[in-house]
Amino acid sequence: MNKTCSLRRLCNLHEYLIKQHRVIRYKSNTCNDLNSFVLYDKFICERRSQSKCSVLVQVSSENSISDLYSYCSKFGSIKNIFHYQLAGSNHFVLTEFEDQSAVNTLLDQSTHVKDSNVIAVRSPFLWFRSSASKKNSKLLSTDDKLNISFQTNQTMIEPNIKNIGLEKLDSLSDQMLLLLKCTQLNDIGTRLRFLTAMQIENSLKGIFPLSKVLPFGSSVNSFGKIGSDIDLVLMDSEIKENKTSRLIYHGKCVSNSRTQIQRNIEILGDLLQLFLPGCSRVKRISQARVPIVKYSQDFVGVECDLAVSNETAVNMSELLYIFGNFDYRVRPLVFTVKMWAREINLTNDTPGRWITNFSLTLLVLFYLQQEKIIPDIQTLVKQASNSDVRITNEGINCTFLRDVSKLHKDVENKKTLDQLLLGFFEYFATFDFNTNAISLNFGKTINKPEYSALYIVNPLEVHFNVSKNISSEEMERFRIELRNAAWIMESSLLNTNSFNLLDLFKGFDVNKKNQIVFEIQHQIKNSNRLVTVKDLFDDSQTQEDKRLT
Ligand code: CTP
Ligand code: MG
Repeated sequence: MNKTCSLRRLCNLHEYLIKQHRVIRYKSNTCNDLNSFVLYDKFICERRSQSKCSVLVQVSSENSISDLYSYCSKFGSIKNIFHYQLAGSNHFVLTEFEDQSAVNTLLDQSTHVKDSNVIAVRSPFLWFRSSASKKNSKLLSTDDKLNISFQTNQTMIEPNIKNIGLEKLDSLSDQMLLLLKCTQLNDIGTRLRFLTAMQIENSLKGIFPLSKVLPFGSSVNSFGKIGSDIDLVLMDSEIKENKTSRLIYHGKCVSNSRTQIQRNIEILGDLLQLFLPGCSRVKRISQARVPIVKYSQDFVGVECDLAVSNETAVNMSELLYIFGNFDYRVRPLVFTVKMWAREINLTNDTPGRWITNFSLTLLVLFYLQQEKIIPDIQTLVKQASNSDVRITNEGINCTFLRDVSKLHKDVENKKTLDQLLLGFFEYFATFDFNTNAISLNFGKTINKPEYSALYIVNPLEVHFNVSKNISSEEMERFRIELRNAAWIMESSLLNTNSFNLLDLFKGFDVNKKNQIVFEIQHQIKNSNRLVTVKDLFDDSQTQEDKRLT
């Protein structure tokens, strides 16, 4: 009986997967995503240039956009206009000029509120006073609209996944691609994140002219969602020695000790709280392993975490960015797994004893290494050239191949997204988390160096465990949910030959499971063993067989 079940199971799955494969064949046939791979440094550099050429202007309504366009055109030629609305009736227009000099002139000619209670601060965040006379304002003509990219009502809030039409698509792979398309961080979101970083960088320019504030984490690692938090880091000044100059700035000696970092965090917290427009709900978290200032940027509608001197995290973002762009299947798979974890409450926005998105992302990447879809990190390290060498100020070696388009050979594994999703759940549902630690560096498991419910070796600081925060209880919950997910997918594919992603996000139907468990327990009451996922699976197959005969 078991053999028949397994055979039927295989046939059904095979038939289903062939159908899916046909649907997205065009994707796997495109040789690889690396043909259009943009180097991380280039991507960051372009986005920073965009932010230097941009200002964000609050307007009273959408009707003011043409007036604003006409006013701003005086300062230089405009390249892009994006309009969005935040909760309440706040309308904002992100205006990008062709040239940075236009922004400088515009800021020079902008004025401050004449009120002794309001501190005059220069920043790229402004508001637009309605004109007493509309005589000089011209409406945005069709010609203007053709010359510039003009986009109104940009999405700033993640859509409800129940309303994006997942159920209309037969193919699970297509559903995963749609989920990615609808929830990934969009162009305006990325622009605003870089502008948020630029606000802080500019405010410190006078005293730290060489410092940069960079976004890192999911805002730039290609795994960011619309509305996800911004991680920012104030980088140490990059000083290029100039032997020809005979005048050298005096400076003060400061240590890079933890105490100094904590003091810097306090000072940054004060700066944000007291002087920078839009920054509210400022909290200094100086006791954390990586001290940060948490705040909200109200004009952008996002929460921000600002750290100092966390160069390793920037390199980590680049590593993830490389993997995210290595193959078209990586990002939809990561997004689906993260969404699944969020929908069934495995993850939580507040940090705690539960699994984080970062750990989940690394688990998916590790699984894709097992499938030989992405390389292990050692391969990237071995292939690094001189220009890839990076040693951080803290002495962490972050050297690895940056231009992976050089590395790529056609990936032999042509599994479809749905196969990989099921594969991910099955792989980790039976994974021995008790003895094994996960090393993306080797692309293999290693023995756990110390006890921890989940051990994922930090790819850049290999003596640290990325998932040290997870408690045994949360880990157990995670393992159960992995098994449940595998079961939901397998049983649905067997019974209906199709699968709706929303069923996975609903989580497990406990009543249905309990009923099946009860029936199986009844059947195997004489044997002295626990009910396994396989039992549940075989049982659903038995019922299906009964139905068919
Ligand atoms: N990071 C790290 N080691 C950790 C935690 C975080 O190196 N133990 C780095 C990673 O580069 C990570 C970034 O810090 O991407 C930001 O962490 P976090 O905000 O927790 O994760 P994100 O990847 O930004 O995901 P999310 O969208 O949930 O914020
Ligand atoms: Mg983050």
